[in-house]
Formats: sequence, C-alpha cells, structure tokens
Amino acid sequence: MQTVTKHNVEQIKVFLRTFGCQMNEYDSELITSILEGESFKFANNEIDANVILLNTCSVRENAIRKIRGHIHEMRHAREHKPAIYGILGCIATNLKEKLLEDKNLDIDLIAGPDNYKQLPELIRQVSRTKQKDSRITFDKNEMYSDIYPKRVEGVNAWIAIMRGCNNFCTFCVVPYTRGRERSRTMEDILGESHKLADEGFKQITLLGQNVNSYGASRTGFTTLLKKISKIEGIQRIRFMSPHPKDFPDELIDEIANNDKVCKHIHLPLQSGSDRILEKMNRSYTQRSFLDLVKKIRTKIPCITLTTDIIVGFPSETEKEFEDTYKVMKDLAFSSAFIFKYSPRKGTVASDKFPDDVSAKTKKDRIVKLNELQRNISLINNRKLIGSTLDVLIEEESTTSSTTNYQGRTDGGILVVFPAGNYFRGQTLKVTIKDATTNVLKGTAA
Ligand code: SAH
Ligand code: SF4
Ligand code: F3S
Repeated sequence: MQTVTKHNVEQIKVFLRTFGCQMNEYDSELITSILEGESFKFANNEIDANVILLNTCSVRENAIRKIRGHIHEMRHAREHKPAIYGILGCIATNLKEKLLEDKNLDIDLIAGPDNYKQLPELIRQVSRTKQKDSRITFDKNEMYSDIYPKRVEGVNAWIAIMRGCNNFCTFCVVPYTRGRERSRTMEDILGESHKLADEGFKQITLLGQNVNSYGASRTGFTTLLKKISKIEGIQRIRFMSPHPKDFPDELIDEIANNDKVCKHIHLPLQSGSDRILEKMNRSYTQRSFLDLVKKIRTKIPCITLTTDIIVGFPSETEKEFEDTYKVMKDLAFSSAFIFKYSPRKGTVASDKFPDDVSAKTKKDRIVKLNELQRNISLINNRKLIGSTLDVLIEEESTTSSTTNYQGRTDGGILVVFPAGNYFRGQTLKVTIKDATTNVLKGTAA
C-alpha cells in the first residue's frame, strides 16, 4: 500500500475533491473545517498532496466509473508518488470494505457521511500503521451542528437542514448511503443563518433529500422559511430538493407571499406513468402531480419549475414512456435533468425488477426527452427577452476576448451580461436581449 513516509500531522498535506450533489459540496466544507480544526494543512492540487480524499457519489453506476477513472488518472499524473488515498461519501457507505479489497484501486481509507469527525484520527492512524481502515457506521444523531463549515467566500451558502432519507424510492441508493432522515433544530439553523448574514452571504440554499419534510411535520419547513426570511442581510432563500408528496397549501402560500423565497421549485417528477410511479414508490400519481403544478402556477404565476426524470425504469413500456413525454410537454418545465435508469445493488428495484429495458431503448428515450426539453427551455427563455429582471451577481466569467458577469434570476436562470462597475453579491436589474437553452444574455437596465 502507498503511504506517506512521515507520520506527524505537520507533514500531511490534504487534497479534497468533491463529486455528486450539493449535499456533498456542503459535507466537504464540513470536512475541511474538521481537518483544519485539527491543524491539517491543505495542498492546492492533487500532485502536491500526500493525502488525497475524494468525496464521492454513487447515485448512478457512471458516478462510480468516474471515480475509478479519476483515481487512475491521478496516479498517473503523480507518477505513482506515494500517498494515502481515501474515499469518502456515498461510495464509501455503498461499497464498504469491498473498496479496500479492490487491488486495482488500492484505496487506504474509507469514511461515510456520518463519520467525518473521525477522519483526523483515521488519517493519522492509517499513516502511522500503514494498515487500511474504514469508518462507515450510520449515526442517526450526527447533524454536525457543532461544526461551522469552511465555506469558500461567495454569495451563496449551503445549509443542510436535514440528513439522510426515509423515502426508499425503489431505484435510489441514497437511503442506504446516508441512513435515516433526521432534521437539524430550528435554533441551530437560524444561528448559522445569522452568522452567514453577518459574514456577507446574500443567499442561503437549504439542503435535504426531502427538504419539505423538515422536522417530520406538515408545517416545519414553512415555519423555517418564515423565520430565515426575517434575517436582515439575507436577500434570497432557495431550497433543494422538495418532494411532491410534502406540498401543503401553507408552503405554496409562503413561497408566493415571501419576497425572499426564490420563485423556483425543483419538483422531481421521475415518470409520468402511474404504474411506474407506483413501482418507484414515489407516492403520487400523474393526476396529483398535475394538480399540484396547477395549484402552484395559479398561486405563483412567475414560478420557474424544473424536474428530474428517469427513463427506462424496469418494465417501462413505450406507452408508459409516452406518458412521461406528454406530461413533460404539457407542463413545459424550464429545465430537466433526465437520467437513464441505472440499477443500484441493494435497492428494491435492482433486487426485484429485472433491468429489462435495453440500452438502445434507454438511449432513444433519453434522446427524445432531451430534444423535447431543449425546445421547451428555449421557448421559455425566449419569452423573457425584453423583460427586466433582478439578477444576483455571482461571479465574473472571462473568455479570451471579453469579461462578463454572471448571476441568476429569482427563478434560478443563469444570466450573463457585460462587466461594469458592479460587484459580486449585488442585485442588478438586467434587461434580457437574447436567450439560449440554458442562458439569458442581457445588459444592465
Ligand atoms: N433526493 C432527491 C434526489 C436525489 S438523487 C429527490 O428526491 O429529489 C437525484 C436524481 O437522480 C433523482 O431525482 C433521480 O432522478 C436520479 N436517480 C436516482 N437514482 C437513480 C438511478 N438508480 N438511476 C437513474 N437515476 C437515478
Ligand atoms: Fe432517493 Fe427518493 Fe430519497 Fe430522493 S426521496 S433521496 S430519490 S429515496
Ligand atoms: Fe450522490 Fe450521495 Fe448526493 S449518492 S446524489 S452524493 S446523496
């Protein structure tokens, strides 16, 4: 196994790279804070590091393939200079000790999402003993409430308001990689939000696998939105991802009436077929989803809706795929993440339903839906040409010939406009002059 030669922490230089969802981004900020708290130093790149940690995602098989590829490339780039390699996050809890046994990967340590406080001790131990080791136990009480994440200076701050998931959608590995759902206390979240406002963050994005079941109550999430919006300095509140099953009228009204809550809802549909939705254990039907969208759009006419779709779920027929196609066409989401079904070991779908939709059919279906969605996104974006929208400036984007700024509308759509005497974190009125599928182009009004 590859190890660093010296064992004291002063000589350890960590490099941490993050894959996967925003929850993982947030967790990496926690990990950085935990390691810095124990005097670990960080390298600027993988080549200079002697402890390389990858915070990983296992939601689809290609996420795992990506990590394998990355590790091989990295070893090659480092000319096989020794280092401790660690896999953190969802692949750690998904594949467990098998990862350490994989000679091809030659990983030294693994730690799951509830074990990050043990990382300093684990790294030191592996470095000292040169023995591979793991920490992959679930802890339903671990909320990391005592750790203040080391955020990169910026405009937006993530806050995980809950961890884990209890929904057990039959295709999904997350309940097995992140354990049971639990919520952080409102007091903690408000305390952190105040601190973020004092530090100059303008936007907070609340994270959870089922963010609107916060506090495991009907009203918990609505109350939380109300309270955070009272904090001076916080201009925008976003959240990701809500589940369609937890959308009481009070929540829709709060989004409608609270100026600070962004008018964007990411509402994963997954499928438009009732039989498939039931097999997925999504606990809504096409009808109830359509009714929910209708209600949301009536109460919040300017809402931006986006979604997630899976094509080729086991036994999905052409007719059932057409149901999804029709719902997407009728609802005209602003954008959609469309995935081919990928069997995940240990999930109900993988264990009980044969992966019987051919690779070719999955491909045909994803191509069709992507084409449909691209056209819809373009039409939706073009409708915004001529309007003047509030844009929260997030960063400078420089190409060889020009410098632009970029930011997002309240609805979360990316806007690019020429640089001027503006600053990150500023909200600017921008008149939209042009639109592509993913981006609006404008000039300051
Ligand atoms: N908690 C979030 C989703 C997390 S995973 C939610 O419920 O909205 C993000 C997306 O990945 C899911 O919405 C789903 O569309 C997709 N996904 C999850 N498991 C998958 C699998 N086995 N194959 C293909 N796509 C999957
Ligand atoms: Fe996975 Fe469903 Fe939980 Fe989302 S709600 S993380 S899709 S089990
Ligand atoms: Fe991936 Fe885990 Fe997030 S599986 S999507 S990193 S919760």
